[in-house]
Amino acid sequence: MNRQERSVASPHVVNIEDLHRRARRRLPKPVFDYLDGGAESESTLRENCRAFESLTFRPRNAINVPQCDTRTHILGADLSFPAILAPVGYSRLMHAKGEVAVASAAGKAGTAFCLSTISGYPLEQVRAATPGPMWYQLYLVGGRAAAEAALERARSAGYSVLAVTVDTGTAGMRERDVRSGTAQLMSGNPLKMLPFLPSILLRPGWLGSFLRDGGLHPLPNIVLPGIGPMKLIDVGAALAESVVTWQDFKWLREAWPGPILVKGVLTSEDAQRSIDIGAAGVIVSNHGGRQLDSVSATLRALPEIVRAVNGQIEILMDGGIRRGGDIVKALCMGARAVLVGRAYAYGLSAAGEAGVSRAITILRADFERTLKLLGCASVSGLDRSYVDVPRDWPGAS
Ligand SMILES: Cc1cc2nc3c(=O)[nH]c(=O)nc-3n(C[C@H](O)[C@H](O)[C@H](O)COP(=O)(O)O)c2cc1C
Repeated sequence: MNRQERSVASPHVVNIEDLHRRARRRLPKPVFDYLDGGAESESTLRENCRAFESLTFRPRNAINVPQCDTRTHILGADLSFPAILAPVGYSRLMHAKGEVAVASAAGKAGTAFCLSTISGYPLEQVRAATPGPMWYQLYLVGGRAAAEAALERARSAGYSVLAVTVDTGTAGMRERDVRSGTAQLMSGNPLKMLPFLPSILLRPGWLGSFLRDGGLHPLPNIVLPGIGPMKLIDVGAALAESVVTWQDFKWLREAWPGPILVKGVLTSEDAQRSIDIGAAGVIVSNHGGRQLDSVSATLRALPEIVRAVNGQIEILMDGGIRRGGDIVKALCMGARAVLVGRAYAYGLSAAGEAGVSRAITILRADFERTLKLLGCASVSGLDRSYVDVPRDWPGAS
């Protein structure tokens, strides 16, 4: 065991909340707030987690389950358990090894990683870090030509699924980022940066590794024709100018021959539109409570989508997964798999690849134990009969 692995081993780290605390201790406040925060009053951020607590299990006891089959197969990918690592923009800020470390940990755990457009490392280098399935998440930042070039690169590098994020019509109002001076710190202007520098200097360990890594890198997967890679500071404005619409899926289907997931579906209307444009699946997501505040927790939104989709395409979900039991609940409610965002990003921030691996190990052990305690021998055996849903939930009956 190396030092990083020891730092996140039991009993120091027993659950995801322990990784959360360690991330807070290692990261400067502005970086931690970027990772941890949500939009406006953060009510959706909180509800995403709370919704899982509102569901209770209905176990079948006195059943011997010596072996559990946690594997699943989705969109051509074999997964050791039904949790995929979600796109988390600019993870290189959380740890110098960033997305490369995440891909490597996903590969070793036998699961998939969906790389964000806003990656600090070239998509080819991230792909090379894992023999496992890699998916690519698309924003249209930089315009159609830049997106087409990235998709071509992703296809040749061996990415198998495209997730198109549709809930970022403009950037959510993340109040923590305003208070901690994220924009000023990224501006490169010493006068603007000055008031916020103490928060960075308080984390010399992180600062040393950030400086050794060369500071803020431009974004190698958003290459503007005739200009070069986009700067991180320009992403916010570019996002607001490059809204994905349902019409865009016409050319996206031509540019990407493989399966497409629509990420950010919360209503039956958008589920139906996803089917209409030929998507292979939807990701029921509210961007981890970072975009429109006061939308429904994703677990609560799930039954409406399950009903609308009626088995025609795949349903994945994300938001609020902090325990393996949460994954079990999402599957009982009709998701085929989940994506996990902050849970692994806390691990990355705490201890690089070792921290991501630890997060996956925790979730996976929880998942398997919960199946055994429910008396259910496999992922495919999970259904609604294993949970009690609050009566006032939409589509609860
Ligand atoms: C710091 C951070 C950055 C994110 N960046 C992206 C991104 O670049 N693209 C995207 O589609 N979703 C992004 N997301 C949303 C995640 O993919 C996912 O939907 C969300 O984190 C799930 O909620 P959870 O963090 O509670 O697991 C980001 C989330 C976080 C926390």
